[in-house]
Order: sequence, then structure tokens, then C-alpha cells
Amino acid sequence: MKLYLKIWRQKDRVSEGKLVEYTLDNVNTHMSFLEMLDTLNNQLITNNEEPVEFDHDCREGICGQCGVVINGIAHGPLKNTTTCQLHMREFKDNETILIEPFRAAGFPVKKDLKVDRGAFDRIISSGGYVSVNTGQAPEANTIPVGHETAEAAFDSAACIGCGACVATCKNGSAALFTSAKITQLALLPQAKEERDQRALKMIAQMDKEQFGHCSNTEACEVECPQGISVLNIARMNYEYNRASFLKFKK
Ligand code: FES
Repeated sequence: MKLYLKIWRQKDRVSEGKLVEYTLDNVNTHMSFLEMLDTLNNQLITNNEEPVEFDHDCREGICGQCGVVINGIAHGPLKNTTTCQLHMREFKDNETILIEPFRAAGFPVKKDLKVDRGAFDRIISSGGYVSVNTGQAPEANTIPVGHETAEAAFDSAACIGCGACVATCKNGSAALFTSAKITQLALLPQAKEERDQRALKMIAQMDKEQFGHCSNTEACEVECPQGISVLNIARMNYEYNRASFLKFKK
């Protein structure tokens, strides 16, 4: 198939970017979207042009590193699918495809289609962990976890931190990501010790980054490749209110 690509090119964080048009022949429908970009880059390198930079790692839909906006949709047209798992059979011969980076104040563009998602790392560092005392590893079944609780925690833990929720939200909110991480740990007994300070610290860090506020449009859930539910945001608000009340009472 033949494609007409309009790709966002930007030299660095401070330079102005623009859309550049490319024509790509002989695209195999079995290629993934990233393999299509690899093919374009081979063509650019052969012509002594600078290749398009984009993020990727596992290419298996696991790591959350990939992510571009394709025809206005984060990760493209296929529901619950990362960019690396999207295949060219979802597009038509002679189609024009618009490819842009995730756009949000909290995700500054580093180069071309790459954005800086360090803000997510800082939110996790602020409290998205369980402190483990050193010593012998405890027996795995010492603290039993009910099946329903384990399933619910796992659903939240499925968030791969790709940032599609931020790119999709008209406010550039990181509420879905932060709430999935808070909820996952809030449900597990092993993480109860730091429950209150975790919610307060992670939300404070989220507010410190340049993310907007959640206004309940639920667009984040629609375009999340993992189908993370907005119920996590309700849980985050509960955790925040609970922790604030307990802190006030002390
Ligand atoms: S490259 Fe890892 S999820 Fe796409």
C-alpha cells in the first residue's frame, strides 16, 4: 500500500515544530505502525535526511514507552491498542495519516514524536511504592488477599503509564494514571501502612506538574489502551478526602 504521511518534526524542546509531508510506498499491511515508521526512517537515512525520532521499547504493548497521536487519536483508531500493536491493515491504500506527539503541558516535546514523561516518574517517586524492611523475605501467603480484591488491584495495576490519558484529556489531566497507581496500592493490605501519606503526596506531586484538573469527561478511559476505568479516579478522590480528614483529626 501507498501512504501519505504528515509527521510533526521538531528539532528540540525550544524550536518551533511543523508538519512535514512524506510519501511511503510498498507498506506491508502486516507491518506494525512502528515498523512502518522504521521503513520511513530507512528511506530518510538512504536519502541523507534525518530520521523521525519516536519512543518505543518492548513493541509488545507492555512497557508503555510508545505513543503518538494518529489522526487525532492517542495510539490510533483501534480500541485498547498501543501504537506498537497497531497494524497497517487498519489503514487504507493511498490514505493520508497525520502523526503527532502526545500534546500536553505536562509532556513537553523533546524531539519530533518523543515527549518527556518524567512527570509520571516523579509522581511514582513521591509515593507510588511500598517500603519493605530489610531482612528475610516473608512467606508469600502470610497476608492473604481476597480474590475480588486481588482482581480489582490487578485491573488498576494494568496501567502501563503510556500517557494516552493525558494526551486525550482536554485539560491534560493525569488523574487516570495517578488514580490507577493509588488505587492499586490502596486495595492491597501489604501497602496499607503508607496509604494516607501516599495519596496526599502523589496528588500533591501531580498538582505540582503541569497537568490540568479532571472534569469528568471520561475521554481518558475511552482511549486508554489498557481500558483503565475512571472508577479509579473516584477511588483516588476518596483516598484523598479520607487522608485529609484523618490528618485534620490528628
Ligand atoms: S513499545 Fe512497549 S508498549 Fe509499545
